[in-house]
Amino acid sequence: MNPQLNIIMMASECVPYAKTGGLADVVGALPKALKKMGHNVRIIIPKYASIDSEKYQLDRFQATMGVWMGGIQEWCSVDTCMMEGDIPVYFIESWHYFGRTGIYNDANNRDYIDNPRRFAFFTRACLQLCIDQNWQPDILHLHDWQTALGAAYQKVWHWDEPRLNKAATVLTIHNMAHQGHYSKDAYEYIGLGWERFTPDQLEDQGGINFLKGGIQFADIVNTVSPTYAHETRTSNMGHGLQSYLYYRGKAYTGILNGVDYENWDPATDPHIPANYSLEDRSGKATCKAELQKMFGLEVNPEIPLVGVVSRFADQKGLDLFYQAIHRCMQNMEVQFVVLGSGDKLLETHYMQLPAQYPGKVGTFVGYSNPKAHLIEAGADFFGMPSRFEPCGLNQMYSLKYGTLPIVRNTGGLADTVEQYIESTGQGTGFKFNDNTPAAIANTIGWAVSTYYDRPHHMEVMIQRAMQKNFSWEQSAKQYEDMYRMVLHWKGR
Ligand code: ADP
Ligand code: GLC
Repeated sequence: MNPQLNIIMMASECVPYAKTGGLADVVGALPKALKKMGHNVRIIIPKYASIDSEKYQLDRFQATMGVWMGGIQEWCSVDTCMMEGDIPVYFIESWHYFGRTGIYNDANNRDYIDNPRRFAFFTRACLQLCIDQNWQPDILHLHDWQTALGAAYQKVWHWDEPRLNKAATVLTIHNMAHQGHYSKDAYEYIGLGWERFTPDQLEDQGGINFLKGGIQFADIVNTVSPTYAHETRTSNMGHGLQSYLYYRGKAYTGILNGVDYENWDPATDPHIPANYSLEDRSGKATCKAELQKMFGLEVNPEIPLVGVVSRFADQKGLDLFYQAIHRCMQNMEVQFVVLGSGDKLLETHYMQLPAQYPGKVGTFVGYSNPKAHLIEAGADFFGMPSRFEPCGLNQMYSLKYGTLPIVRNTGGLADTVEQYIESTGQGTGFKFNDNTPAAIANTIGWAVSTYYDRPHHMEVMIQRAMQKNFSWEQSAKQYEDMYRMVLHWKGR
């Protein structure tokens, strides 16, 4: 077997060009690790209007490309640039579909109604680009519902296309809650034939389900942590698709995401006012003071500070956390900073907190990468009260920054955070099971009392946390093994 694999990553987000969440971090980092292992990786993403061509020095790569959708030929062009790490990135440019400010939704957090058409088109365009450029990939790596149909297109439309039909299709699911479940109105355009509009293929409760199609057609499927792989095939965390995942058997696994330590390391982080490391943590105090100042909190090194950086979505449990903050404010000497955006009602609630608890709670509604870094560095604890969490990156960043995670015991949070044992001082964080404000507040209380009463345990935990290594090399090796296994299954 060829030791060097040709891999095409097809995704709707990639750092630094377009990001709404961790998907972008993964698509930006995994290729770099695979490249270092000697593979040939290309990334393809849409050219959203928000991507600055000048800043990223985009060049025209293919002036026109015709893409057949159900009965209609669409036209687009393709730009390219070189990403750090020597990875070529290609941008599918269609003003009609991607010439708008948002990635998935408008400024009022409403999904674009043509999302099924936008991402079906994008997925077909990725395959067309391989054909036009004669790339002959070994692996077509699809991410989430947005590109899941790549597996169906390959098998239904390109079974006799020599440049594509030998490729193994790999679908990575970053979140079962987003399935691309739409009314069947778009089905004709998607163009996969009504004979496949059946419950065991693409149909779901009268509509089309992109992710289900991907699960059924991809040669192998994985998600982003072992525990989430288990939860999604055995419980309602599969959001209705658990039996389909279960029946994939060995062809459905969990591979933990890695951390891009080039971007997330307190020793080198350019976004924080003082760098620090395991050997010399003195800079962390400067970061804490700066964070307290920036968020209007009392600048006091003695008061424990809990940080949050999150999308405001049901998954993240921040509605429960909001109630927990009120409880904590009644009887604890603790501070909070919250950075996030999304759900409009939650945004309003969080924006009201600083006035209610002046000097104790700070909020920034919006998206800010520098602030996210400062929170990781300046806080003592990091809160992730997720209802479910496929992997979660922030808790892994927190560990590296010596900021102990307070997390719900689910998915990737369960796999990456070790529970504090009060009798011995072991562990790297604080975990709780119940989805309730009381459980969250009690666990924050546990962390806060550890901070005040057992500083020697804090010290040992911080050291252990900072030594944890979730580098991408380890995860990329598992992806490589998965690629080779699926190629072997296909007789290659
Ligand atoms: P998810 O992808 O479900 O949102 P992850 O923990 O995998 O969760 O990844 C979230 C990523 O998005 C992290 O890199 C985090 O720092 C970043 N992030 C989320 N919200 C914000 C925000 N408001 N400002 C800056 N970064 C954010
Ligand atoms: C999703 C999940 C998150 C995961 C990320 C990257 O957005 O919600 O848990 O870390 O994808 O895989």
